[in-house]
Amino acid sequence: MLSGKHLSSFVTAFLAAISLSVYSQPSMIHLSVDSGEKKGMPAPVTVTWSSDKSSSGQYVVFGTRPDPSKKVKASETVSDGCSVYTAELVRLRPGKEYYYKCGSDATGWSKVYSFASEPRNGSFRVAVIGDTQDNINNENFVKTAAVINAVKGYDPAITLHMGDIVNDGSKTASWKGFLTVSQDLNAESPLMPVLGNHDVNNEKGDNFQKPFKDFYDLFNLPGDELNYSFTYGKVRFIGIFSGWAQGAEPLGEVKYKPGSPEYAWLDNELSLAEADHGLNWIIVWMHYPVNSFGWSNIKAWKDNILPLLEKHRVDLCLAGHRHVYERHLQMKDGKIAEKNASSLSANEGTVFITNGTAGGNPTGPGGKEIPTIAFTPEKSMYCYAIMDIDPGSIKYQVFDVDKNLIDSFVLLREQQ
Ligand SMILES: [Fe+2]
Repeated sequence: MLSGKHLSSFVTAFLAAISLSVYSQPSMIHLSVDSGEKKGMPAPVTVTWSSDKSSSGQYVVFGTRPDPSKKVKASETVSDGCSVYTAELVRLRPGKEYYYKCGSDATGWSKVYSFASEPRNGSFRVAVIGDTQDNINNENFVKTAAVINAVKGYDPAITLHMGDIVNDGSKTASWKGFLTVSQDLNAESPLMPVLGNHDVNNEKGDNFQKPFKDFYDLFNLPGDELNYSFTYGKVRFIGIFSGWAQGAEPLGEVKYKPGSPEYAWLDNELSLAEADHGLNWIIVWMHYPVNSFGWSNIKAWKDNILPLLEKHRVDLCLAGHRHVYERHLQMKDGKIAEKNASSLSANEGTVFITNGTAGGNPTGPGGKEIPTIAFTPEKSMYCYAIMDIDPGSIKYQVFDVDKNLIDSFVLLREQQ
């Protein structure tokens, strides 16, 4: 939990950031990766930023030296009166620290940020955050700012977001607030989110469960941006969109219904990942957890998605939605593993984790009555996970905002 001193300093930092976003250029800088066209090269990195001054000549200047010089012109779109710029950095060298700035001489430049390109050896660090939503006690993302600040200290190569990025996806100010507060992390660690129920339209009708325009305007993600995958190191990451499963269940509109195009897409994605001998791990992330209880336990979602995850031997399934941290016993072929240990064999089934604790008001300690529960803290807290991924292991550690260790385990890839 935040101390009064921490809270005060983060509120000040947030207000300063908002002020800067209005009066200086550029703002809301964030990175994303897309392995679709990499053809043996490190995954290209896309830089996206916003400006309230339209300029036909905006650039990313990048390179492997702290005074970068290679120039890439950005493309421009207009969203709610501000310009959004995008530039893709391709043909990166593996395992290098890249430096960049974005903007123009006419409208100003960002500071110089840096990111690590995809390594050749398959060893890298991933951050896991979820439910940054600006609801009660997290107005203006003040708690999210503390989590982001802590996560940034671990210097992750990529950040996975479990969804519920904002509390009300119809509010432009919330999307901009999140991207402003989290810029210092997102500008150096590609932000790869899936959307949650709060991010999308909950009103029945033609737009039910669909994202708002601001999401498409402000983010640049692979595929259809809702369901997408990318390869990084020896991992196939697959993000899937669970919509508003709770509201969709009575209507028979829960996502990933067998026979649906999205079900076929995921089945094919997982089949390809399984057959790819260059990959060691399959990680799926989504908003609604498979293992839950009470009003968050959506039977139709579990019935739709779990057989696919088990059929294709997914190693790790990450989710958010509930503002708790929970680690579950491995599941394989419809059975729950008995072993609950800090060292697990990936051959024993899929590990399911819920981590929706990056700002949204905590919903209380995790559900100990869930049959699969392996670990959940005794008290509510804000926390996040840091995954150290290697070809033969995934070390998963969960920390609170003061960097106290909450949970830790290792998933081992053993020869079958
Ligand atoms: Fe949610």
